[in-house]
Amino acid sequence: GTEFADQAGLSRIEVLDEIGSTNTELTRLASDEPDAWGDLAVLVAERQTEGHGRLHRPWASPVGASLTVSILLRPHNAAGRPLPTQSYSWFSPLAALALREALAQIAGIESALKWPNDVVVDGLKISGILAHLAPGAHGEPPGVVLGTGVNVSLREDELPVPTATSASLAAGRPVDRTALLARYLEEFARRYRAFCAVNGNADAPLDGGRSLLSRVQDATITLGRRVRVELPGGRRLEGRATGLDGHGSLQVVEDSGERHAVSAGDVVHLRP
Ligand code: BTN
Repeated sequence: GTEFADQAGLSRIEVLDEIGSTNTELTRLASDEPDAWGDLAVLVAERQTEGHGRLHRPWASPVGASLTVSILLRPHNAAGRPLPTQSYSWFSPLAALALREALAQIAGIESALKWPNDVVVDGLKISGILAHLAPGAHGEPPGVVLGTGVNVSLREDELPVPTATSASLAAGRPVDRTALLARYLEEFARRYRAFCAVNGNADAPLDGGRSLLSRVQDATITLGRRVRVELPGGRRLEGRATGLDGHGSLQVVEDSGERHAVSAGDVVHLRP
């Protein structure tokens, strides 16, 4: 635990046997004891009994077959100043990229991002991410709790919906849950530190390489496609997904030419 945390650059990592939701629990723990968690802390649960998904949906995770993990972030730049909160919308895509890398390295799986931050294999969802604000420590701006659920070794009959898959199904062989978690956290921490070092600027080169925005754009299969978007209020849009804006919102152009920047919602990829 502690050794891994040090090596991966985490401030703390805790593993619980069973909890309702790691997101809810980590938010509570961090507000009860702001100093006990540091700036990059991780809470993992063996069993999650009341997981939350995006858009108020439940998130089911069969015991032993899924990874349920939450990361508490209190983002600061190199000068020790809090990151601008506008940059917070990039943490979820950053996490999705890290998971994609971990899936490739640990399980040999080629995956992609489906907007906003699902990780998919051949169009089937393998992981979802849910972020919300966490109380800041000592009057500082809020932090973020970033929850990731990964279907690791679910069998066909355990999948919650027909549009889901699991790492072992996609890889065609067993996938080590602990190895996947460790690699995910390492990959996440590295990208996150680089992003903080450029003060949360999605357009800035990371570690001398490409910007986060261009990396996310390249990995997102939603772009360039015809999509149907269901907005949180229930309204629907149909058109072409043309890109991401500076906040990570999806730009959609309807056939009428009307443009939209969608910050939340559900996307269906349509045939061209
Ligand atoms: C989605 O709807 O795609 C997001 C699912 C997020 C699930 C994870 S599991 C760990 C963390 N705790 C929760 O209650 N939800 C997130």
